[in-house]
Amino acid sequence: MSDLNGRPVLVTGASGGIGAATVRRLVAAGADVVAAGRSVEALEALGAETGSRSLPFDLESEDSVRAALEGLDVYGVVNCGGFGGEIATPMDTDIDVFDKVISVNARGALLVIKYTSRTMVAAGRGGAVVNVSSQASLVALSGHISYGSSKAALDNITRVSALELGRYGIRVNSVNPTVVMTPMSAWYWGREDVEKPFLDAMPLGRWATEDEIAAPIVFLLSDDASMITGVSLPVDGGYSSR
Ligand SMILES: NC(=O)c1ccc[n+]([C@@H]2O[C@H](COP(=O)([O-])OP(=O)(O)OC[C@H]3O[C@@H](n4cnc5c(N)ncnc54)[C@H](OP(=O)(O)O)[C@@H]3O)[C@@H](O)[C@H]2O)c1
Repeated sequence: MSDLNGRPVLVTGASGGIGAATVRRLVAAGADVVAAGRSVEALEALGAETGSRSLPFDLESEDSVRAALEGLDVYGVVNCGGFGGEIATPMDTDIDVFDKVISVNARGALLVIKYTSRTMVAAGRGGAVVNVSSQASLVALSGHISYGSSKAALDNITRVSALELGRYGIRVNSVNPTVVMTPMSAWYWGREDVEKPFLDAMPLGRWATEDEIAAPIVFLLSDDASMITGVSLPVDGGYSSR
């Protein structure tokens, strides 16, 4: 991936698990990484470890996104910031949670594309965006009415952005991971009645690691993916292919 050498790449959600794994891989590939999130402490720790630059901002505020990103020189963008919301059915969903999930996962990612794509177009050297979506946008998953809807919106943002930005040589893709078993996902996906039936139905039959999500993200950012745009790539052990 020597083509990423020295190229500036913004990673949102860098203070979280998949984002930090992506930062580590990008730094290893020689990219000049700008790591974003809200936790300054976590971003500084990652910077001390990898050499990434910290850029804290709030995805829910257009003013905050604009202030952070207007004029920022980037070649690549990874929209990894996200919020899991709740496990609920359409009958008992808390609509305030729905609004927040959409606000972070779809609206926030669109705001990042809005401000970064302007500078990418002006720089005239093309670029690549990877949106971290989910298997929950590709198939109906119990309890995922809000989260799945936000990621389906994100996949549409991927397709329309790919259509609009292709003429500038900017590619836009999604990765759609299955579960990475973190303490945050364990309370639901680790439940006996949830985990076993789900993994039994998945061809590879195991959860993903953070690095198994970071690797295809870095591939889609690189010139090795130079003819790929507008796709939602399942990274789900084959679950959505059944
Ligand atoms: N883990 C999974 O099983 C899984 C599966 C499929 C897809 N995904 C997606 O992968 C992405 C990363 O997931 P993860 O497991 O690494 O999550 P995580 O560890 O919980 O990290 C979430 C990240 O999003 C950031 N974030 C949340 N709200 C924000 C806001 N309002 N403004 C700015 N940043 C905000 C957090 O920043 P701060 O903590 O600094 O606020 C953190 O860096 C998410 O989009 C998630 O939906 C995860």
